[in-house]
Amino acid sequence: MYSLFTALDSSYSVYMDYNVDKDIRKAKTLPSSIYKDTRIFKKVISSFKNQWLFATHTSSFTNNNVIPLHYLEQILNESMILTKNDESYSCLSNICTHRGMLICDEACSTSVLRCGYHGRTFSLDGHFSNMPEFEGVKDFPSSDDNLKSFPLKDWKGLLFTGLNVSDFENYVSYLDYKLSWMPIEKFSENQSSYRSYDVNANWALYVDNYLEGFHIPFVHTDLHDTLDYDEYRTELFDNGVLQIGIARENESHFVLPSSSPDYGLKVAAYYFWLFPNIMLNFYPWGLSVNIVVPISADKTKIVYYGYVWNKDLLHKGAGADLDKVEAEDQDIVEKVQRGIQSEIYVSGRYSPTKETGVHHFHRLLSSSLSNK
Ligand code: FES
Ligand SMILES: [Fe+2]
Repeated sequence: MYSLFTALDSSYSVYMDYNVDKDIRKAKTLPSSIYKDTRIFKKVISSFKNQWLFATHTSSFTNNNVIPLHYLEQILNESMILTKNDESYSCLSNICTHRGMLICDEACSTSVLRCGYHGRTFSLDGHFSNMPEFEGVKDFPSSDDNLKSFPLKDWKGLLFTGLNVSDFENYVSYLDYKLSWMPIEKFSENQSSYRSYDVNANWALYVDNYLEGFHIPFVHTDLHDTLDYDEYRTELFDNGVLQIGIARENESHFVLPSSSPDYGLKVAAYYFWLFPNIMLNFYPWGLSVNIVVPISADKTKIVYYGYVWNKDLLHKGAGADLDKVEAEDQDIVEKVQRGIQSEIYVSGRYSPTKETGVHHFHRLLSSSLSNK
């Protein structure tokens, strides 16, 4: 049994049961209140503190050695920076230990972190270095004057951080199982792939939509022409879902080595979703990372970063026209957000063949609420 709690808002003055049955054939989808109630939104977002979150790819340090993590600030209310010092990376608090000024608001290249308010400096690993006009201050400097550092892990060049996080090996184990053959650490950031979209919908509706290929023939007609719908597959793992798009005849696909567990398949795309908000879409041209940034109960920001492996394949196959697919998805989720304002609609049922990913997400979400 997962969570059971009372939603206090007057419009939901009954007990709301967020249990999602383990058996998809019996289960009902999460009640619509989860997508619109502000208090539930806050509860869900505070659970993000316990999750690994995507920071960047190491190729983003080509021209800079300090990178602020703006989207994480929006989610965690913590301003954080990544720094590179020789070959070592740190994730640090971006808050000056003097009076709380932000130290770095834009990516830059520097040998020292200097606060622009009163000139306090720190080394790139966060240690306090110098402060003007502090002669005679007792017990100064102490370790409290260093910048706090956060956990930071590197999986094949993809850096992840978080606040209360552990067990990174388990977190990336399915990625490792599927993609250990892919030279992701050699991909390079492609700044022209950067996108930021504002969507008028709850973040979890965006994730729901991502987690099924069921809608592809109805919503994405061009994408449907490149993927073999009948061969589309969904695999579940502890903290996420993998969807595999199989290429139609003559469409772009990976040339998988015999060490791949999918050797022999014409994989057009690996769509990895890691709970709660990270989407890693691998195409033969490289990787599109989509971050779902919850802003409020009915507003979400979607951020895209692109990392290129083979430039010649950029406009081919399932990963060719991501802007079009994104616009089609956004139109749908915004209409669902409007639909669930209804008092008549509360929840629905799942397709046991096509919505296992959505069902898995709902159970993880329900579980994260009950673990708070
Ligand atoms: S707030 Fe940074 S030096 Fe004063
Ligand atoms: Fe879609």
